[in-house]
This record gives sequence, C-alpha cells and structure tokens, in this order.
Amino acid sequence: MTFRMILILVVLYCTGLDAARPALNQELSTFFNELWRLDTNRMSPGVDYTLSVQGRAGFVNPGSQVVTDHAALPLFTSVNETKLRSITTVSRLITLLDNYERSTGVAEQVTTEELLEISQFLDAVMQTPVMKRAHQYLVSKRLSNSDVRQFKDQLKLIWFQLYRRQRNSRLDSCGFEHVFVGETRSGNELIGFHNWIQFYLQEKNRHLDYKGFQAGYHDLPDQDDHVLKLQFTWHGVVKPVASAFIGTSPEFDMALYTVIFLLNTERSTNVLVNIDQCQVELVVVRHGRSLETAYPKLLSSNNRHVRQRSY
Ligand SMILES: *[C@@H]1O[C@H](CO)[C@@H](O)[C@H](O)[C@H]1NC(C)=O
Repeated sequence: MTFRMILILVVLYCTGLDAARPALNQELSTFFNELWRLDTNRMSPGVDYTLSVQGRAGFVNPGSQVVTDHAALPLFTSVNETKLRSITTVSRLITLLDNYERSTGVAEQVTTEELLEISQFLDAVMQTPVMKRAHQYLVSKRLSNSDVRQFKDQLKLIWFQLYRRQRNSRLDSCGFEHVFVGETRSGNELIGFHNWIQFYLQEKNRHLDYKGFQAGYHDLPDQDDHVLKLQFTWHGVVKPVASAFIGTSPEFDMALYTVIFLLNTERSTNVLVNIDQCQVELVVVRHGRSLETAYPKLLSSNNRHVRQRSY
C-alpha cells in the first residue's frame, strides 16, 4: 500500500469516527451552563462530600457476574447528610426512592401516598431556580405551556408515567425509576441507575459495592469531578459501567434531560455539550411520550486530568 493510500484510509477512518459523535451544541452548552450556575442545591466536592475513586475497574463480560474489586473502600468517604437532607428536592427525592419495585416484569403498585409524594417532589423541583429557568426556556421554544399546572403534568408524563419495559410484562417501569432508582432485568442485569444520591444511600446501606472507575487510558478522575463512570454491584448484580453526575441536584439532572427530551422527536438523541469543566455527551432515549433512559457519557473532564499519572 502506498503512503497516500494509507493516508486516505486514516482520514476516512477518523472522519468516520467523527460522524458517530455529534458536533458540539453551542446553544445548549450556553444554556446548561446557565442552569449549572443556577444550581445552588449542588453539593461541593471536598466540602459537602468527599470521594475515593481508588482503582481502575476491570473488564466484565456482558451478562457475567464475575467482577474483580479494584476499590476496597466505598466511593463516598463522607457526605454531609445534614446538608443533603436539608435540600427540599433531595429530601423529597429520598422518600420516592423506596417506592419502586427493583425488578422489571413485576407490576408497580402505586399507592395514593406515593402519588402524593410524586406530586410534592415535582412541586419542590418546580420551585427551584433551575427548573423555573428550564420552564421559561421551553415556553420560549413553544414546547411547554406557560401554565405551571400544565408544565407539571408534562413533567409527570415524561418522568412518572408507568409503561412496560419488557414485552408482555406488567406496567413495571418509568423514566424516574430507571434513571434515579435503577432496575434489575431477568435477575442478572442491572439497568439504569444514574443518580449519585441513590448511589450514596445504597452504598451506605451496604446494598451497593463500588468496584472501580472507568476512564480513558490517559485520563484519571479527580475527587472533584462532576461526572464519573463507575462500576459496581447492587444487591449482587453487576453494573459493568454506569455514568452519572456527582453532586448535582435532582432538578439539575431532570432539567437537562427534560429539555433534550422535548427538543427532539427521535427515539434516541445524543447531544454534545461543555458543562463547567467537562465535555459530556448527554443521551436521552424516549419511550413514546415518556422517558426510557437518560444519562451523561463523559468524554473528558478538566483538561489538566488528561495526562498520565501513577498511583
Ligand atoms: C454540614 O452542613 C451543615 C448545613 O449546611 C453545616 O451547618 C455543618 O457545619 C456541616 N457539617 C460539616 C461537618 O461540615
């Protein structure tokens, strides 16, 4: 092969890779940074909580429950729970977390008490500067009604409408459960689970065992990173990798995903944005008029992390 042919192949290969990744979305980067600044309910790393990322996670074969522990200690060394629970949206999130049946295929029993908890959680979320600003933005795009009750119904439909995650099964799931709680499928697969508060609480109750982080070969996470890729087991079931925002408020995560959900009509949407010091691809998948899943894919954290470091 001539040098020129190799060059052409390299160029084709690289442009092919680029095509798979969306271009940076400037408008949403600007808007999400505004939400980031408005997120006064975000916990500060090193102050309100401390992390211990420990070792790099190993490869887990799909479906396998064999996993090597590269983190003897918990991910969360400490969390100021007084502060965490004093945040209204967080305390109401925590009351919701215990409402969901872990396994898909098992019908959710929604009691009137739980409906009230959902309603109170949404009320608290909608009173935050972050969700108020998101609402305003969606109204300006003619994607939401300016009436707050109608906006609340819209949020409820996106996040809490029950649907069937598996064919021929019961109404066993909703976007909120998948993203904020996590679910097991067929008893040996852990799906969803993209919220740090649930991670922390489950780890504290010893239902969750952190196994190590994942990052690019030359990239190492820091204790102050706001997006992490983690490997863990929950009730013994392996999650080979799950990424999540760390320290952010529930309303921040919900606002980002809701905006992307409503801006797009495709089944699956990937949006590339720079938020604070991270470059992340936000993935939002719909299930009809509701949310199937939503999570951040970390592309690079703070530039200074992209270098080789040894422990
Ligand atoms: C935890 O947060 C509360 C409320 O913000 C604060 O008063 C307290 O000093 C914090 N505790 C620690 C150990 O930092």
